Amino acid sequence: MSTADRDTIAEPTTETPVEATTTNRKQPFPRGFLDTISTGWAERPESVPAPRPQASFAATRRAAVSAAFPGARLVIPAGSLKQRSNDTDYPYRAHSAFAHLTGWAADAEPDSVLVFEPTDGGHDVTLYFRERADRTTTEFYADATVGEFWIGPRPSLAGVAADLDIATEHLDRYVGVDGELVLEEDDDLTRFVSELRLVKDEFEIAEMRRAVDITAQGFDDIIRSLPAAIAHARGERVVEGVFHRRAREDGNGEGYDTIAASGPHACYLHWTRNDGTVVPGDLILVDAGVEADSLYTADITRTLPVSGTFTDVQRRVYETVREAADAAFAAARVGVRFREVHEAAMRVIAERVAEWGLLPVTAQEALDGDAGGQHRRYMVHGTSHHLGIDVHDCAQARREMYYDGILAPGMVFTIEPGLYFQIDDLTVPVEYRGIGVRIEDDILMTEDGPVNLSADIPRTADEVEAWIARVQG
Ligand code: GLY
Ligand code: MN
Repeated sequence: MSTADRDTIAEPTTETPVEATTTNRKQPFPRGFLDTISTGWAERPESVPAPRPQASFAATRRAAVSAAFPGARLVIPAGSLKQRSNDTDYPYRAHSAFAHLTGWAADAEPDSVLVFEPTDGGHDVTLYFRERADRTTTEFYADATVGEFWIGPRPSLAGVAADLDIATEHLDRYVGVDGELVLEEDDDLTRFVSELRLVKDEFEIAEMRRAVDITAQGFDDIIRSLPAAIAHARGERVVEGVFHRRAREDGNGEGYDTIAASGPHACYLHWTRNDGTVVPGDLILVDAGVEADSLYTADITRTLPVSGTFTDVQRRVYETVREAADAAFAAARVGVRFREVHEAAMRVIAERVAEWGLLPVTAQEALDGDAGGQHRRYMVHGTSHHLGIDVHDCAQARREMYYDGILAPGMVFTIEPGLYFQIDDLTVPVEYRGIGVRIEDDILMTEDGPVNLSADIPRTADEVEAWIARVQG
């Protein structure tokens, strides 16, 4: 429900308790309810926790923002609930920049605003949010969007101040000012906070390792569920649901909609309908990532033979994708351009599909930046993107900092080449048609080279077959 549309239940009044209501499903509150609802509640002890682990990291990030915009008033809104239908909203998710700069993530309050007020020495930073109302207010029992009777306990100003180690004020005290720079409205501010996330700190890296580890368990669950998926008319949904359960039980959820793409569906790059069957003999491509409570997400793809073993042609395609992924990994070094990782993968793809006779030109010609690209028919997407709070992290960074940027220690990004031969692609032999393969790993760049955070999830065709045999026992 949007906040503008919050009064889904009849507003009570102490004057006329049985007045007509404008809603078609709520009764007005009778006098007896109004006389008693605010009393008889035990005192709630003020919860003043120690700062959460990310608080000091968020403070360091805020200091960087402050230093970059001396004298400017900066406003970072968390964003509001988004209406799904009538009085039902989508699950709330704070803006990624807000979560990054406050450490307030899955538990952030809708409509909060982080404000940097300029001072002589830098900025005073204050977090404005809607503190819980006490039990004498109508909000407590009558507001279905924020009332504690409806949605459960909400935080106090003092509790959040201690938890995030930041000054807090009630949202009612926030006043906009002419000339202030507002995230998403001011390009320089939006770009800066996006680029600030290009290099991850120690807390972020630990959270991403955790997200990857839970995701690995989700893939084990999927393998265990394959017989049930085969038996179900919408087996892809079985796979999606199994992963969702793991994500919700051990994390906040998924960082993006799970792709459970069996058979020819694997050739649709973002197949999220997931309403198909899972057929023995086919491959199933699963692209899924657990999002931790901190909102950091994994982004992993594995392509599994539904019956447990690859056919010869499936294995040939699979191992070519793996070769491309390994070439990309080998190219990832501190000091090289991000795009060189992609280019290394694409050289392998071009060479192999040329060898298989699929191209009307040579691999060399296909790799020409202007006249080439014929091999891209079989892999139209990029090989890598930055990963973090957003699955496609740092999306507002300048090209020279992103695609043309230089790899640095602390960057986390995917390597995810693929080969996709659509079921009706007349340019490929029949035996290739309907095969789609992607292998996606999450990579941490260090001074000593790239570290594959998802290396424990089997990758080679042999390892994948052994994995399925082991998990299915
Ligand atoms: N995992 C989906 C993507 O990277 O686009
Ligand atoms: Mn990805």
